[in-house]
Amino acid sequence: MNNTVVLTGMMGCGKSSIGKELAEQMGVKFIDTDFEIEKKINMKIEDIFKEKGEGFFRKIEEKICIDLIDGKSKVISLGGGAFLNNKIRQVILKKSLSVWIDVNYKIIAKRLKSSKKLRPILNYAKLEDSVKSILKERVPVYKLATLRIEASDKTKKKIAAEIKKYL
Ligand code: S3P
Repeated sequence: MNNTVVLTGMMGCGKSSIGKELAEQMGVKFIDTDFEIEKKINMKIEDIFKEKGEGFFRKIEEKICIDLIDGKSKVISLGGGAFLNNKIRQVILKKSLSVWIDVNYKIIAKRLKSSKKLRPILNYAKLEDSVKSILKERVPVYKLATLRIEASDKTKKKIAAEIKKYL
């Protein structure tokens, strides 16, 4: 059986750490799309945004995400904006189990503040407001994922176990 699981949700919601845990439990490969983009272009995400622009990043993101859905069992952690792309979303909805990792914006803002990974689309001077307004735009799209996990106060082990139940 094809078990491709795709994790979506806001920056800082825990997609990568949950994804690694889930992949380990399932005995399949874990793939982080941002890492794949950095590897392909040989640049950090923040430098891609700065030097080549968001449009360039989104084009590479589209190709990499779509190519990754190739029928092989794996767990994929998407960049927080990827699911907003209609072409990416349609492929994911058709060919994988998509999961929205839903975390309260205050927790997200706190995590992003201490994260080493810089997110170019955030306004770090007003982090909580920035997270809140991006979420307001995105939640209607994240809701289109097949499964929603309320993940604010759960361990990654518990979240991974909940996702596994649906496979
Ligand atoms: C983005 C999220 C980031 C990264 C880029 C843009 C977004 O990934 O792809 O900075 O638009 O939400 P994470 O969700 O892993 O932080």
